[in-house]
Amino acid sequence: MRSKLSIAIDGPAGSGKSTVARRVAEILGILYLDTGAMYRAVTLKALQDGIYLDDHEKLTALANQVELKFKKMSDGAYQLFMDGKNINEEISSFVVTENVSQVAAVSGVREALVQRQKQIGAESGVVMDGRDIGTVVLPHADLKIFLTASLEERAQRRWLELKAKGINVSKQKISEDLKQRDAFDSNREISPLRPADDSITIDTTGMSIEQVTEKIVNLSKHNQN
Ligand code: DC
Repeated sequence: MRSKLSIAIDGPAGSGKSTVARRVAEILGILYLDTGAMYRAVTLKALQDGIYLDDHEKLTALANQVELKFKKMSDGAYQLFMDGKNINEEISSFVVTENVSQVAAVSGVREALVQRQKQIGAESGVVMDGRDIGTVVLPHADLKIFLTASLEERAQRRWLELKAKGINVSKQKISEDLKQRDAFDSNREISPLRPADDSITIDTTGMSIEQVTEKIVNLSKHNQN
């Protein structure tokens, strides 16, 4: 039987949340849910369908209707499928990244996606990463982590990630984009990015993925209900 342990990992863009969350889930043998991917999927669909991003009604309808499924691939990693199509690559594109904060600030979109996330959290043990997991989606999580890192380090990590994919962008541009997205996500009215009162903040500047993963796994052993 799967553990019902629930871990919330929040933090700004590029703080290493998804990589670490995926590894923690693997080690603990529980599900990993990338909630950012869901906001990205709705953004992608809106762009594909030519929906204006200030048309909150249409965006909300889309978030309620779109079929989203995380499927386990042969290498064990989960990839997101929208209406039956693998959209893993497309949701990481620049155009989606540049527009996702605006879509994620729409209350109807958040309600639709949070409802789905809560349901997954109620069904099984899970490591979820996002911006509002500890505050809204899993307010009773066994462990809440807030991951941070200096802007410089976050930009460096993103730059390396993109370089590995053969994409060349200046660190300066990445840094500006991260700053802009963080400001937008932190200052929006609904569920802004902020640490839950009972979260543990880990500054990952200068830490390796392995070190951060180990720290969270160890913390989870002390926080299991
Ligand atoms: O983690 P990410 O970069 O894939 O997230 C994409 C965007 O979605 C991010 O700018 C903020 C938003 N987001 C959110 O508002 N709430 C979440 N739980 C996850 C992501």
